[in-house]
Amino acid sequence: MSSKKIHVSELRPGMYVSKLDRDWLDTPFVMQGLLIESREDIEILSEYCEHLWIDVNPSQQQLNSSPVKAAVSIAPKVAPPYKTEIKEEHRRVSKTFKHARELTSSLLDEVRLGAAIDTNNAKDTVNGCVESVLRHPDAMMWMSKIREAREYTSDHCLNVCVISVAFGRHLGYSEEKLQQLGLCGLLHDVGKMRVPVEIIDKPAALTPKEYNLIKAHTVHGRNMLLEAKNIYAGAIDVAYSHHERVDGQGYPRKLKASDISRFSKIIAIVDAYDAMTADRVYSPAKTSTEALKIIYSERGKQFDDQLALEFIQTIGLYPAGSLVELYSGQIAFVVETNQLRRHLPKVILMLDKDKKPYKQEKLLDLSFIESGELAHDKLIKQVWVDGSFGLSIRDYQKRGLVLKRGFA
Ligand SMILES: [Fe+2]
Repeated sequence: MSSKKIHVSELRPGMYVSKLDRDWLDTPFVMQGLLIESREDIEILSEYCEHLWIDVNPSQQQLNSSPVKAAVSIAPKVAPPYKTEIKEEHRRVSKTFKHARELTSSLLDEVRLGAAIDTNNAKDTVNGCVESVLRHPDAMMWMSKIREAREYTSDHCLNVCVISVAFGRHLGYSEEKLQQLGLCGLLHDVGKMRVPVEIIDKPAALTPKEYNLIKAHTVHGRNMLLEAKNIYAGAIDVAYSHHERVDGQGYPRKLKASDISRFSKIIAIVDAYDAMTADRVYSPAKTSTEALKIIYSERGKQFDDQLALEFIQTIGLYPAGSLVELYSGQIAFVVETNQLRRHLPKVILMLDKDKKPYKQEKLLDLSFIESGELAHDKLIKQVWVDGSFGLSIRDYQKRGLVLKRGFA
């Protein structure tokens, strides 16, 4: 197939784009390869790249299996609207999240000391998260980016709860189902409380024996939850099966894809995403985009194909709490995602183009680029790992997030 490099202004409906001057995952088009169907496709692409390559004689198969159609088919039918303004939800959520952190940490500490799992405590934690995510998922998603180095397992469990609830919201789940899914997320790694901390936090490669001890957390988790009172049965299954893979190479049972529950497949993706985006003793944190690229490449192998694509749609290009650089050179935190135009979120500007801090942070709605009220150099150029440029969301939150009136 011969391809031709053209300027984006030369693009017309009916052309098949095979390559961009940037990575596909940095655009709203999930798949590689794209049949241009409308002026809107061209407008979106023109915001992302200057040059692209078109196939001169696209095959019938390319024209039929348009990735745009695939991307549309995996998008939610109707994105649930935000029920509250982000500033309102931030006001509520810091207390809720702090409380959820304390409850999760004490629940796991007690389990480590041999106590039974406090299911009421776990349900309270999950229900608070579900209520917030249903009002506006970005406040909880922002909070999930704040990590305490010493509390990895506890933070990870709560984060998997929050992110899986946001994923379930995207999938259109009912409140009851979200509560069940969140509980599965919160308790998926409870079996790690039976694994020595030195092994979990070992800053070097594990021996085969140590790796077996880690893998046993799935069996411990199942056994511990079987003994818990009034526990949702799905949580037992997820604790047991969240390391199974759809290619049958997972553990502990090497289940086939058809034998792995949907909730276990969901938690497997969220678990991997949160682990990859956290700083660990043995590997530095990846950006959200890098983690999504790995999930994309592992679909059909480690992860369920369709759910992996849905998850990428849920998280989007720039989830709340991401540290981003604009083409202007300014550095900002994403504070609210744009459900229709995922590449145009609302941000808080932290550093100017010379990377000098603003005396007072500025709030900016990048969707004004579309109306021409903001220049194109305010488009996001790239995502940075939290902590880059000396900016950490944890420090910023500690100083007190202030969202001003008029920013909605
Ligand atoms: Fe696990």
